Amino acid sequence: MFERLFSPLQIGNLTIPNRIQVTPHELQYFDDGLVSDTLVDYYEERARGGAGLLEVSQLAVKPGGDWEHDSARRHPMQSTPSIVPGLRRLADAAHAHGSKIFMEVAAWPRVLGPVSSVPLETGVTLNELSHDEIRDIQHFYRIAAAYVKESDFDGVDLHGTHGALIEHFYSPAMNRRTDRYGGSIEGRLTFLFELIDMLRSDLGDRMALGLRLCADERLESGVTPDYAAKVVQLLDGKLDFINVDSGSSGRFEALNQFALQTQPLYVEQAYGLYMSEPIMKVAKKTRIGIAGRITDPVVAENILERGSADYVGMTRALIADPELPRKAKEGRLEDIRPCIGTLQDCWGRSVAHEWPMHCTVNLAVGFERTRGSLGLREGSERGRKRKILIVGGGVAGLEAARASSERGNEVVIYEREADVGGQVNLAKLLPGRTDIGAIVSWYKVQLSKNSVRVETRKEVRSAAEAQYLVEEEKPDTVIIASGSAPIRTGIQMITFREVVGWEGPSVKTIDQVLGGEKISGNVLVADSTKYIMGPGVAEYLSRSGARVTLVTPHLHLSPDLSFFNQSIHVFKRLRASNVEILPLTWVKRIEPEGAILYEIPTGREWKMEANAVVLNTGRERAGDLWSYFNGLVTDTREIGDCRVAGGTIRDAIVGGYEAGSSV
Ligand SMILES: Cc1cc2nc3c(=O)[nH]c(=O)nc-3n(C[C@H](O)[C@H](O)[C@H](O)COP(=O)(O)O)c2cc1C
Ligand code: SF4
Repeated sequence: MFERLFSPLQIGNLTIPNRIQVTPHELQYFDDGLVSDTLVDYYEERARGGAGLLEVSQLAVKPGGDWEHDSARRHPMQSTPSIVPGLRRLADAAHAHGSKIFMEVAAWPRVLGPVSSVPLETGVTLNELSHDEIRDIQHFYRIAAAYVKESDFDGVDLHGTHGALIEHFYSPAMNRRTDRYGGSIEGRLTFLFELIDMLRSDLGDRMALGLRLCADERLESGVTPDYAAKVVQLLDGKLDFINVDSGSSGRFEALNQFALQTQPLYVEQAYGLYMSEPIMKVAKKTRIGIAGRITDPVVAENILERGSADYVGMTRALIADPELPRKAKEGRLEDIRPCIGTLQDCWGRSVAHEWPMHCTVNLAVGFERTRGSLGLREGSERGRKRKILIVGGGVAGLEAARASSERGNEVVIYEREADVGGQVNLAKLLPGRTDIGAIVSWYKVQLSKNSVRVETRKEVRSAAEAQYLVEEEKPDTVIIASGSAPIRTGIQMITFREVVGWEGPSVKTIDQVLGGEKISGNVLVADSTKYIMGPGVAEYLSRSGARVTLVTPHLHLSPDLSFFNQSIHVFKRLRASNVEILPLTWVKRIEPEGAILYEIPTGREWKMEANAVVLNTGRERAGDLWSYFNGLVTDTREIGDCRVAGGTIRDAIVGGYEAGSSV
């Protein structure tokens, strides 16, 4: 099993122990611009888990603006001698577990100036780099690479995608120069050819040198997979490895570009193969890697078997479970904690907000020393065997059960519905979002391995039933995780009032819609929340035949979608399913045949005919279980949405972990 995935890979003079790569990803873990303990622990965890090749993001060749002096900076790292001791710690941590480690070295046109007279995302800057400036920049690269070498790293990956300077040089869309750095494909590669020559002589034979390549810009006259293959043909043998990727300049919303890098769960597994396959045909000496939602070792093995790449980036997969390589090797595929692809706590924090990266499903990310295997290694105490009763089998309850059963406790879950999973079971019904359900499947396997008893269709409806249950089960601890219910009245932060007419028979909640209630005809979805439920339900209804209008009080459709790199995907899906989107709009009142809508800034009102109105203004705590159980068992706790309603999946898992790991 996984013969190819676990076969060694020769990159230049290096032998990588297997074909699994963690591609560079912005973590926001640098501390005052230097390597922090958190960063070392994070990488050590992934090396321990068995990744053959680790890459670190990013060493900026030249600081830009205030970054140089910003003591709070967490990303990127700056090219100064003070980085060397920290980088050495990183290299030592990787090497101690047999992994190799590369540094992504980056330069950005927005810091250094445009390659030629094309506008940058920040505005129109129509000068172009002079030959002296180009020479200086190449010199900055050499200095940065020297620090990487001094730190015992194994390789340098030149950042040449996502709008980095090198991409601006080789891209026909961005490079309009007529001097020797432009004009033809060879001219556009001259900057890189020169740089490679310089770095080769500086780095020597020990270290590998490679490029992160954008193989599809999807810009008119931009880089296409065919053009990228020609680039690789010209680079073949000059570089030891090329990581194939897509997406260029990012922060200009109208461009499709952010949506092309690090694509969310809407996009198929291994979405980058159409780029790596033509490249593999021309790369005779240079090793080719591909990334992009490769989360399943079976898929990874197939990619290698088909010759679609020489090695595979499995970055989010290893954020979600750093032990994926080891588990795959041992044939324990069912134990791999799945990446659910929503980007909510990785990209949505580190790239969108520049906050330290977390992960929705893996609470140990950024906390490896206390919550990860590094913490376990230092001896987390197993508690004495206690009996834990968990009421509610959403993800909060499931995590509480996992964490407490890991500690050797005897655990039973009582769940009202026919299956555990709570709101995730509804969320996974939204079009294109099935993958979210994978986390519930994973919990089920883990709980069954830990002999957790799960009682479904068991609801606690009164204090008497709670008492009976406690007498039956005799728990030492009760953990209440009974979740939340949708707010029915439409109260929200636009009017701070209920929506007039909410009691009408045509007014539904998203739980009712996803629970299977039949709704057809003209449907108004009024969504004041910021993420996927409103647009998702609008698409769901539209696909089942309704004509849907979606109103949002926000200026943009669900603003949080953009943080999680999903806006463009969702916008396209809503357009394809003919959902009409009205921003800055809310509901004045609901009437028997429709609703009076108004535009918030102007107050303009109009009537919309509707057969049904779906109100989504958030959630409230469900049930009264606390009062039922309070006083029956001294150690009674409340977690998840029944404590603070409207939480994310991660909030629920954190609550579950904290409760479960402390009993
Ligand atoms: C949180 C996050 C930050 C990222 N930052 C970088 C970066 O700094 N440089 C880079 O080249 N790619 C970056 N990427 C892209 C990844 O290297 C990779 O191409 C992408 O995650 C797709 O691979 P995957 O599906 O295996 O995660 C980032 C990805 C994530 C999730
Ligand atoms: S936050 Fe989500 S997308 Fe990112 S690695 Fe974790 S599960 Fe995957």
